[in-house]
Amino acid sequence: MENLRKNLEPIETASIEELRSLQLERMKKTLTHAYNNSPFYKQQFDNAGLHPDDLKTLEDIAKFPFTVKSDLRDNYPFGMFAVPQKDIVRLHASSGTTGQPTVVGYTQNDIDMWANVVARSIRAAGGTCEDICHISYGYGLFTGGMGAHYGAERLGCMVVPMSGGQTQKQVQLIKDFNPHIIMVTPSYALNIADEMDRQGIDPKSLNLRVGIFGAEPWTNAMREEIERRLNIQAVDIYGLSEVIGPGVAMECLETKDGPTIWEDHFYPEIIDPVTGKVLPDGEEGELVFTSLTKEALPIIRYRTRDLTRLLPGTARTMRRMDKITGRSDDMLIIRGVNVFPTQVEEQLLSVKNLSPHHLIEIYKDGNLDKVVINVEPNRELTDIEAFDAIQELQANIKTMVGISSKVVLKSIGHLPRSEGKAKRVIDKR
Ligand code: DLL
Repeated sequence: MENLRKNLEPIETASIEELRSLQLERMKKTLTHAYNNSPFYKQQFDNAGLHPDDLKTLEDIAKFPFTVKSDLRDNYPFGMFAVPQKDIVRLHASSGTTGQPTVVGYTQNDIDMWANVVARSIRAAGGTCEDICHISYGYGLFTGGMGAHYGAERLGCMVVPMSGGQTQKQVQLIKDFNPHIIMVTPSYALNIADEMDRQGIDPKSLNLRVGIFGAEPWTNAMREEIERRLNIQAVDIYGLSEVIGPGVAMECLETKDGPTIWEDHFYPEIIDPVTGKVLPDGEEGELVFTSLTKEALPIIRYRTRDLTRLLPGTARTMRRMDKITGRSDDMLIIRGVNVFPTQVEEQLLSVKNLSPHHLIEIYKDGNLDKVVINVEPNRELTDIEAFDAIQELQANIKTMVGISSKVVLKSIGHLPRSEGKAKRVIDKR
Protein backbone atom coordinates (compact mmCIF):
# COMPACT_ATOMS: atom_id res chain seq x y z
CA MET A 1 0.00 0.00 0.00
CA GLU A 2 2.94 2.38 0.67
CA ASN A 3 3.73 2.13 -3.05
CA LEU A 4 0.38 3.69 -3.82
CA ARG A 5 1.54 6.96 -2.29
CA LYS A 6 4.63 7.17 -4.47
CA ASN A 7 4.69 9.67 -7.35
CA LEU A 8 1.55 11.52 -6.27
CA GLU A 9 1.25 15.06 -7.62
CA PRO A 10 1.94 17.61 -4.84
CA ILE A 11 -1.63 18.97 -5.04
CA GLU A 12 -3.06 15.54 -4.18
CA THR A 13 -1.63 15.84 -0.68
CA ALA A 14 -1.47 19.65 -0.34
CA SER A 15 -3.13 21.31 2.64
CA ILE A 16 -6.82 22.23 2.40
CA GLU A 17 -5.84 25.92 2.49
CA GLU A 18 -3.52 25.50 -0.49
CA LEU A 19 -6.20 23.62 -2.41
CA ARG A 20 -8.91 26.19 -1.66
CA SER A 21 -6.69 29.08 -2.65
CA LEU A 22 -5.78 27.40 -5.97
CA GLN A 23 -9.47 26.73 -6.59
CA LEU A 24 -10.43 30.34 -5.94
CA GLU A 25 -7.77 31.66 -8.27
CA ARG A 26 -8.83 29.22 -10.99
CA MET A 27 -12.54 29.83 -10.48
CA LYS A 28 -12.09 33.57 -10.95
CA LYS A 29 -10.15 32.92 -14.15
CA THR A 30 -12.79 30.53 -15.44
CA LEU A 31 -15.66 32.93 -14.81
CA THR A 32 -13.78 35.73 -16.54
CA HIS A 33 -12.91 33.51 -19.49
CA ALA A 34 -16.51 32.31 -19.81
CA TYR A 35 -17.91 35.84 -19.54
CA ASN A 36 -15.49 37.33 -22.06
CA ASN A 37 -15.52 34.55 -24.63
CA SER A 38 -18.80 32.65 -24.47
CA PRO A 39 -21.83 34.70 -25.59
CA PHE A 40 -23.98 32.15 -23.76
CA TYR A 41 -22.33 32.82 -20.40
CA LYS A 42 -22.17 36.57 -20.97
CA GLN A 43 -25.92 36.55 -21.39
CA GLN A 44 -26.47 34.21 -18.45
CA PHE A 45 -24.44 36.41 -16.09
CA ASP A 46 -25.92 39.64 -17.45
CA ASN A 47 -29.45 38.31 -17.01
CA ALA A 48 -28.63 37.47 -13.40
CA GLY A 49 -27.08 40.91 -12.89
CA LEU A 50 -23.72 39.34 -12.11
CA HIS A 51 -20.15 39.97 -13.13
CA PRO A 52 -17.17 37.61 -12.61
CA ASP A 53 -15.80 40.18 -10.12
CA ASP A 54 -18.76 39.38 -7.85
CA LEU A 55 -16.99 36.15 -6.94
CA LYS A 56 -14.85 36.90 -3.88
CA THR A 57 -14.98 33.50 -2.19
CA LEU A 58 -15.56 29.95 -3.42
CA GLU A 59 -19.00 29.97 -1.82
CA ASP A 60 -19.97 32.96 -3.99
CA ILE A 61 -20.27 30.54 -6.91
CA ALA A 62 -23.74 29.78 -5.52
CA LYS A 63 -24.92 33.19 -6.79
CA PHE A 64 -24.23 32.20 -10.37
CA PRO A 65 -26.83 30.50 -12.56
CA PHE A 66 -26.79 26.78 -13.31
CA THR A 67 -25.98 25.24 -16.68
CA VAL A 68 -28.17 22.33 -17.76
CA LYS A 69 -28.02 19.76 -20.52
CA SER A 70 -30.64 21.59 -22.60
CA ASP A 71 -28.33 24.64 -22.71
CA LEU A 72 -25.85 22.49 -24.66
CA ARG A 73 -28.64 21.21 -26.89
CA ASP A 74 -30.02 24.70 -27.52
CA ASN A 75 -26.56 25.82 -28.57
CA TYR A 76 -25.92 22.76 -30.75
CA PRO A 77 -23.36 22.11 -32.03
CA PHE A 78 -20.65 24.67 -31.19
CA GLY A 79 -22.54 27.57 -29.62
CA MET A 80 -21.09 27.14 -26.11
CA PHE A 81 -17.45 27.07 -27.17
CA ALA A 82 -15.31 29.86 -25.73
CA VAL A 83 -12.34 29.64 -28.11
CA PRO A 84 -12.08 30.04 -31.90
CA GLN A 85 -12.60 26.85 -33.86
CA LYS A 86 -8.94 26.80 -34.92
CA ASP A 87 -7.97 26.17 -31.28
CA ILE A 88 -10.26 23.16 -30.90
CA VAL A 89 -8.48 19.88 -31.55
CA ARG A 90 -11.13 17.31 -30.57
CA LEU A 91 -14.87 16.81 -30.35
CA HIS A 92 -16.84 14.22 -28.44
CA ALA A 93 -20.59 13.84 -28.16
CA SER A 94 -22.96 11.96 -25.94
CA SER A 95 -25.81 10.34 -27.77
CA GLY A 96 -28.45 10.77 -25.10
CA THR A 97 -31.66 8.82 -25.30
CA THR A 98 -33.73 11.63 -26.75
CA GLY A 99 -33.15 14.41 -29.22
CA GLN A 100 -29.95 16.03 -30.23
CA PRO A 101 -26.60 14.82 -29.01
CA THR A 102 -24.60 17.14 -26.79
CA VAL A 103 -21.31 18.13 -28.32
CA VAL A 104 -18.20 18.95 -26.30
CA GLY A 105 -14.92 20.41 -27.56
CA TYR A 106 -11.33 20.38 -26.32
CA THR A 107 -8.26 22.54 -26.90
CA GLN A 108 -4.83 20.91 -26.77
CA ASN A 109 -4.50 22.13 -23.17
CA ASP A 110 -7.86 20.54 -22.34
CA ILE A 111 -6.71 17.23 -23.81
CA ASP A 112 -3.49 17.45 -21.77
CA MET A 113 -5.33 18.23 -18.54
CA TRP A 114 -7.73 15.35 -19.23
CA ALA A 115 -4.88 12.90 -19.94
CA ASN A 116 -3.27 14.04 -16.67
CA VAL A 117 -6.37 13.49 -14.54
CA VAL A 118 -6.95 10.07 -16.08
CA ALA A 119 -3.26 9.16 -15.56
CA ARG A 120 -3.66 10.31 -11.95
CA SER A 121 -6.79 8.16 -11.70
CA ILE A 122 -5.05 5.03 -12.99
CA ARG A 123 -2.17 5.73 -10.59
CA ALA A 124 -4.73 5.93 -7.77
CA ALA A 125 -5.79 2.41 -8.78
CA GLY A 126 -2.18 1.28 -8.35
CA GLY A 127 -1.27 1.52 -12.04
CA THR A 128 2.30 2.27 -13.18
CA CYS A 129 4.28 2.44 -16.42
CA GLU A 130 5.05 -1.25 -15.93
CA ASP A 131 1.44 -2.19 -16.55
CA ILE A 132 -0.41 -3.38 -19.61
CA CYS A 133 -3.80 -1.67 -19.74
CA HIS A 134 -6.68 -3.21 -21.69
CA ILE A 135 -9.36 -0.67 -22.58
CA SER A 136 -12.87 -1.94 -23.35
CA TYR A 137 -14.68 1.38 -23.10
CA GLY A 138 -16.05 2.31 -26.52
CA TYR A 139 -13.80 4.42 -28.73
CA GLY A 140 -15.40 7.13 -30.84
CA LEU A 141 -17.70 9.97 -29.92
CA PHE A 142 -18.18 8.50 -26.43
CA THR A 143 -15.50 9.90 -24.11
CA GLY A 144 -14.79 6.56 -22.39
CA GLY A 145 -12.36 4.90 -24.82
CA MET A 146 -10.18 7.79 -25.87
CA GLY A 147 -10.30 9.41 -22.44
CA ALA A 148 -9.00 6.23 -20.80
CA HIS A 149 -6.52 5.71 -23.62
CA TYR A 150 -4.78 9.08 -23.41
CA GLY A 151 -4.56 8.79 -19.63
CA ALA A 152 -3.10 5.28 -19.70
CA GLU A 153 -0.55 6.36 -22.32
CA ARG A 154 0.31 9.45 -20.27
CA LEU A 155 1.07 7.18 -17.33
CA GLY A 156 3.28 5.11 -19.62
CA CYS A 157 1.22 1.93 -19.66
CA MET A 158 1.30 -0.38 -22.64
CA VAL A 159 -2.21 0.29 -23.90
CA VAL A 160 -4.48 -2.18 -25.69
CA PRO A 161 -7.15 -0.04 -27.43
CA MET A 162 -9.71 -2.84 -27.72
CA SER A 163 -12.91 -0.72 -27.48
CA GLY A 164 -16.26 -2.43 -26.70
CA GLY A 165 -17.75 -5.47 -28.41
CA GLN A 166 -16.23 -8.55 -30.08
CA THR A 167 -16.36 -10.25 -26.71
CA GLN A 168 -14.82 -13.53 -27.84
CA LYS A 169 -11.84 -11.69 -29.29
CA GLN A 170 -11.56 -9.45 -26.18
CA VAL A 171 -11.14 -12.52 -24.05
CA GLN A 172 -8.70 -14.14 -26.47
CA LEU A 173 -6.55 -11.00 -26.35
CA ILE A 174 -6.80 -10.74 -22.57
CA LYS A 175 -5.45 -14.29 -22.45
CA ASP A 176 -2.68 -13.61 -25.00
CA PHE A 177 -1.51 -10.12 -23.90
CA ASN A 178 -2.16 -10.79 -20.22
CA PRO A 179 -2.93 -7.20 -19.12
CA HIS A 180 -2.68 -6.03 -15.48
CA ILE A 181 -5.43 -3.43 -15.70
CA ILE A 182 -8.80 -3.46 -17.41
CA MET A 183 -10.95 -0.36 -17.98
CA VAL A 184 -14.56 -1.22 -18.81
CA THR A 185 -18.16 -0.63 -17.76
CA PRO A 186 -19.18 -2.93 -14.88
CA SER A 187 -21.99 -4.47 -16.94
CA TYR A 188 -19.66 -5.32 -19.80
CA ALA A 189 -17.13 -6.73 -17.32
CA LEU A 190 -19.73 -9.35 -16.37
CA ASN A 191 -20.18 -10.21 -19.99
CA ILE A 192 -16.41 -10.66 -20.29
CA ALA A 193 -16.39 -12.86 -17.17
CA ASP A 194 -19.10 -15.07 -18.71
CA GLU A 195 -17.07 -15.38 -21.91
CA MET A 196 -13.98 -16.38 -19.88
CA ASP A 197 -16.04 -19.16 -18.34
CA ARG A 198 -17.17 -20.26 -21.79
CA GLN A 199 -13.59 -20.35 -23.03
CA GLY A 200 -12.51 -22.22 -19.91
CA ILE A 201 -10.13 -19.49 -18.78
CA ASP A 202 -9.45 -19.32 -15.07
CA PRO A 203 -8.99 -15.66 -14.06
CA LYS A 204 -6.50 -16.85 -11.43
CA SER A 205 -4.19 -17.87 -14.27
CA LEU A 206 -4.11 -14.28 -15.59
CA ASN A 207 -2.13 -11.19 -14.55
CA LEU A 208 -5.26 -9.01 -14.23
CA ARG A 209 -4.96 -7.20 -10.92
CA VAL A 210 -7.34 -4.27 -11.01
CA GLY A 211 -10.41 -3.11 -12.94
CA ILE A 212 -11.36 0.56 -13.35
CA PHE A 213 -15.13 0.62 -13.72
CA GLY A 214 -17.51 3.46 -14.47
CA ALA A 215 -19.83 5.18 -16.93
CA GLU A 216 -22.91 3.69 -15.25
CA PRO A 217 -24.18 3.21 -11.69
CA TRP A 218 -23.06 0.03 -9.95
CA THR A 219 -23.48 -1.16 -6.39
CA ASN A 220 -20.99 -2.47 -3.86
CA ALA A 221 -22.73 -5.84 -4.25
CA MET A 222 -21.77 -5.71 -7.93
CA ARG A 223 -18.21 -4.78 -6.92
CA GLU A 224 -17.94 -7.97 -4.86
CA GLU A 225 -19.39 -10.04 -7.67
CA ILE A 226 -16.92 -8.65 -10.23
CA GLU A 227 -13.97 -8.99 -7.84
CA ARG A 228 -14.85 -12.61 -7.21
CA ARG A 229 -15.53 -13.51 -10.84
CA LEU A 230 -12.43 -11.84 -12.27
CA ASN A 231 -10.16 -12.27 -9.24
CA ILE A 232 -9.27 -8.56 -9.21
CA GLN A 233 -9.74 -5.39 -7.18
CA ALA A 234 -12.56 -3.26 -8.59
CA VAL A 235 -12.45 0.54 -8.29
CA ASP A 236 -14.84 3.24 -9.38
CA ILE A 237 -14.09 5.97 -11.93
CA TYR A 238 -16.59 8.76 -12.48
CA GLY A 239 -17.00 11.41 -15.12
CA LEU A 240 -19.25 12.95 -17.69
CA SER A 241 -18.70 14.44 -21.12
CA GLU A 242 -19.95 17.90 -20.28
CA VAL A 243 -17.34 18.22 -17.53
CA ILE A 244 -14.47 16.44 -19.40
CA GLY A 245 -15.19 12.68 -19.66
CA PRO A 246 -13.88 9.89 -17.39
CA GLY A 247 -11.48 11.07 -14.66
CA VAL A 248 -13.51 13.77 -12.90
CA ALA A 249 -13.27 11.57 -9.80
CA MET A 250 -11.54 8.30 -8.99
CA GLU A 251 -11.64 5.87 -6.13
CA CYS A 252 -8.25 5.27 -4.50
CA LEU A 253 -7.25 1.63 -4.17
CA GLU A 254 -5.94 1.99 -0.62
CA THR A 255 -9.31 3.04 0.76
CA LYS A 256 -11.96 1.97 -1.79
CA ASP A 257 -14.36 4.38 -0.14
CA GLY A 258 -15.90 6.28 -3.05
CA PRO A 259 -14.30 8.40 -5.78
CA THR A 260 -11.99 11.27 -4.80
CA ILE A 261 -13.00 14.33 -6.82
CA TRP A 262 -10.02 15.92 -8.60
CA GLU A 263 -11.01 19.21 -7.07
CA ASP A 264 -8.08 21.17 -8.47
CA HIS A 265 -9.86 20.95 -11.85
CA PHE A 266 -13.53 20.37 -11.03
CA TYR A 267 -15.28 22.22 -8.22
CA PRO A 268 -18.20 20.24 -6.75
CA GLU A 269 -21.37 21.37 -5.03
CA ILE A 270 -24.40 19.42 -3.87
CA ILE A 271 -27.77 21.05 -4.32
CA ASP A 272 -31.32 20.24 -3.45
CA PRO A 273 -32.62 19.06 -6.84
CA VAL A 274 -35.98 20.76 -6.29
CA THR A 275 -35.05 24.15 -4.83
CA GLY A 276 -31.52 24.43 -6.25
CA LYS A 277 -30.21 25.43 -2.80
CA VAL A 278 -26.65 24.41 -1.92
CA LEU A 279 -26.56 21.66 0.72
CA PRO A 280 -23.80 21.13 3.27
CA ASP A 281 -21.22 18.35 2.79
CA GLY A 282 -22.61 15.02 3.89
CA GLU A 283 -26.14 15.68 2.68
CA GLU A 284 -27.48 13.81 -0.30
CA GLY A 285 -28.54 15.77 -3.38
CA GLU A 286 -27.65 16.54 -6.97
CA LEU A 287 -24.00 16.89 -7.91
CA VAL A 288 -23.05 20.14 -9.66
CA PHE A 289 -19.66 20.94 -11.20
CA THR A 290 -17.79 24.07 -12.21
CA SER A 291 -14.71 23.46 -14.34
CA LEU A 292 -11.63 25.29 -13.08
CA THR A 293 -9.15 24.91 -15.93
CA LYS A 294 -11.10 24.16 -19.10
CA GLU A 295 -10.63 26.38 -22.13
CA ALA A 296 -12.82 25.23 -25.04
CA LEU A 297 -15.95 24.62 -22.99
CA PRO A 298 -15.76 26.21 -19.56
CA ILE A 299 -18.75 24.92 -17.64
CA ILE A 300 -20.29 26.81 -14.74
CA ARG A 301 -22.43 25.00 -12.18
CA TYR A 302 -23.38 22.13 -14.47
CA ARG A 303 -26.27 20.09 -13.08
CA THR A 304 -25.23 16.46 -13.55
CA ARG A 305 -28.56 14.92 -12.38
CA ASP A 306 -26.38 12.44 -10.46
CA LEU A 307 -27.42 11.91 -6.86
CA THR A 308 -24.75 11.55 -4.20
CA ARG A 309 -23.13 13.40 -1.29
CA LEU A 310 -19.75 14.98 -0.62
CA LEU A 311 -17.53 13.31 1.96
CA PRO A 312 -14.26 14.43 3.56
CA GLY A 313 -10.97 13.39 1.94
CA THR A 314 -9.27 10.22 3.16
CA ALA A 315 -6.53 8.96 0.84
CA ARG A 316 -6.16 12.50 -0.58
CA THR A 317 -6.81 16.05 0.60
CA MET A 318 -9.64 16.40 -1.88
CA ARG A 319 -13.20 15.52 -1.02
CA ARG A 320 -14.85 12.29 -2.07
CA MET A 321 -18.27 11.59 -3.47
CA ASP A 322 -20.37 8.69 -2.31
CA LYS A 323 -21.01 5.94 -4.82
CA ILE A 324 -23.75 7.18 -7.10
CA THR A 325 -27.09 5.59 -6.33
CA GLY A 326 -28.69 6.79 -9.53
CA ARG A 327 -29.59 9.76 -11.66
CA SER A 328 -32.63 11.82 -10.83
CA ASP A 329 -33.89 11.06 -14.34
CA ASP A 330 -33.40 7.29 -13.84
CA MET A 331 -35.61 7.26 -10.79
CA LEU A 332 -38.72 5.20 -11.39
CA ILE A 333 -41.92 5.99 -9.62
CA ILE A 334 -43.79 2.73 -9.21
CA ARG A 335 -47.18 3.05 -7.56
CA GLY A 336 -45.86 6.10 -5.82
CA VAL A 337 -42.67 4.45 -4.55
CA ASN A 338 -39.36 5.93 -5.70
CA VAL A 339 -37.13 3.19 -7.04
CA PHE A 340 -33.63 3.26 -8.47
CA PRO A 341 -32.64 0.38 -10.73
CA THR A 342 -29.49 -0.13 -8.60
CA GLN A 343 -31.74 -1.15 -5.67
CA VAL A 344 -33.00 -4.04 -7.76
CA GLU A 345 -29.42 -4.95 -8.73
CA GLU A 346 -28.43 -5.06 -5.07
CA GLN A 347 -31.26 -7.46 -4.17
CA LEU A 348 -30.61 -9.63 -7.21
CA LEU A 349 -27.00 -10.12 -6.19
CA SER A 350 -28.06 -11.29 -2.76
CA VAL A 351 -29.85 -14.34 -4.19
CA LYS A 352 -27.37 -17.14 -4.52
CA ASN A 353 -28.42 -18.94 -7.71
CA LEU A 354 -29.11 -15.86 -9.86
CA SER A 355 -26.74 -14.09 -12.24
CA PRO A 356 -26.44 -10.28 -12.22
CA HIS A 357 -27.89 -9.97 -15.75
CA HIS A 358 -31.37 -8.50 -15.58
CA LEU A 359 -33.97 -6.40 -17.36
CA ILE A 360 -36.74 -4.50 -15.61
CA GLU A 361 -40.00 -3.99 -17.52
CA ILE A 362 -42.74 -1.70 -16.31
CA TYR A 363 -46.19 -1.41 -17.83
CA LYS A 364 -49.68 -0.26 -16.95
CA ASP A 365 -52.40 -2.76 -16.19
CA GLY A 366 -55.50 -0.58 -16.01
CA ASN A 367 -54.39 2.14 -13.62
CA LEU A 368 -51.83 0.02 -11.87
CA ASP A 369 -48.09 -0.08 -12.50
CA LYS A 370 -46.82 -3.64 -13.00
CA VAL A 371 -43.18 -4.60 -12.74
CA VAL A 372 -41.58 -7.63 -14.31
CA ILE A 373 -37.99 -8.40 -13.41
CA ASN A 374 -36.37 -10.71 -15.93
CA VAL A 375 -33.39 -12.58 -14.55
CA GLU A 376 -31.15 -15.50 -15.44
CA PRO A 377 -29.81 -18.27 -13.22
CA ASN A 378 -26.03 -18.47 -12.88
CA ARG A 379 -26.15 -22.22 -13.70
CA GLU A 380 -28.80 -24.76 -14.69
CA LEU A 381 -31.24 -25.03 -11.78
CA THR A 382 -33.64 -27.75 -10.69
CA ASP A 383 -37.33 -26.74 -10.63
CA ILE A 384 -37.21 -26.40 -6.87
CA GLU A 385 -34.09 -24.24 -6.92
CA ALA A 386 -35.64 -22.05 -9.63
CA PHE A 387 -38.86 -21.68 -7.64
CA ASP A 388 -36.94 -20.79 -4.48
CA ALA A 389 -34.78 -18.21 -6.27
CA ILE A 390 -37.85 -16.48 -7.73
CA GLN A 391 -39.66 -16.45 -4.39
CA GLU A 392 -36.61 -15.15 -2.56
CA LEU A 393 -36.02 -12.28 -4.99
CA GLN A 394 -39.69 -11.26 -5.05
CA ALA A 395 -39.76 -11.24 -1.26
CA ASN A 396 -36.49 -9.27 -0.96
CA ILE A 397 -37.68 -6.66 -3.43
CA LYS A 398 -40.96 -6.34 -1.59
CA THR A 399 -39.24 -5.88 1.79
CA MET A 400 -36.15 -3.90 0.84
CA VAL A 401 -37.32 -1.85 -2.16
CA GLY A 402 -40.99 -1.67 -1.25
CA ILE A 403 -42.64 -2.77 -4.48
CA SER A 404 -44.44 -5.89 -5.65
CA SER A 405 -42.91 -7.45 -8.71
CA LYS A 406 -43.09 -10.55 -10.83
CA VAL A 407 -39.73 -12.23 -11.26
CA VAL A 408 -39.37 -14.17 -14.50
CA LEU A 409 -36.51 -16.63 -14.86
CA LYS A 410 -35.13 -16.72 -18.41
CA SER A 411 -32.75 -19.32 -19.77
CA ILE A 412 -29.01 -18.59 -19.55
CA GLY A 413 -27.89 -16.18 -22.28
CA HIS A 414 -31.45 -15.07 -23.09
CA LEU A 415 -31.26 -11.49 -21.85
CA PRO A 416 -29.46 -8.85 -23.94
CA ARG A 417 -25.81 -8.37 -22.90
CA SER A 418 -24.21 -4.98 -22.47
CA GLU A 419 -21.18 -3.97 -24.52
CA GLY A 420 -20.98 -0.54 -22.92
CA LYS A 421 -23.56 1.17 -20.76
CA ALA A 422 -26.25 -1.36 -19.87
CA LYS A 423 -29.89 -0.67 -20.58
CA ARG A 424 -31.66 -2.19 -17.59
CA VAL A 425 -35.13 -0.67 -17.79
CA ILE A 426 -37.91 -0.74 -20.36
CA ASP A 427 -40.67 1.56 -19.19
CA LYS A 428 -43.76 0.98 -21.35
CA ARG A 429 -46.08 3.24 -19.34
O1 DLL B 1 -19.86 7.97 -19.06
C1 DLL B 1 -17.77 9.16 -18.98
C2 DLL B 1 -17.11 7.96 -18.41
C3 DLL B 1 -16.54 7.02 -19.25
C4 DLL B 1 -17.00 7.79 -17.04
C5 DLL B 1 -15.90 5.93 -18.73
C6 DLL B 1 -16.34 6.70 -16.49
C7 DLL B 1 -15.80 5.76 -17.34
P1 DLL B 1 -21.28 10.29 -20.31
O2 DLL B 1 -21.55 9.33 -21.41
O3 DLL B 1 -21.43 11.74 -20.58
O4 DLL B 1 -19.80 10.14 -19.81
O5 DLL B 1 -22.19 9.87 -19.11
C8 DLL B 1 -22.09 10.51 -17.87
O6 DLL B 1 -22.70 8.49 -16.67
O7 DLL B 1 -23.58 11.70 -15.40
C9 DLL B 1 -23.43 9.38 -14.63
O8 DLL B 1 -24.84 9.37 -14.66
C10 DLL B 1 -22.92 8.13 -15.32
N1 DLL B 1 -21.66 7.71 -14.71
C11 DLL B 1 -20.40 7.91 -15.15
N2 DLL B 1 -19.50 7.34 -14.30
C12 DLL B 1 -20.22 6.77 -13.30
C13 DLL B 1 -19.89 6.04 -12.13
C14 DLL B 1 -19.24 9.00 -19.28
N3 DLL B 1 -18.64 5.73 -11.81
C15 DLL B 1 -23.01 9.88 -16.87
N4 DLL B 1 -20.92 5.64 -11.34
C16 DLL B 1 -22.88 10.49 -15.50
C17 DLL B 1 -22.19 5.93 -11.64
C18 DLL B 1 -21.59 7.01 -13.57
N5 DLL B 1 -22.56 6.60 -12.73
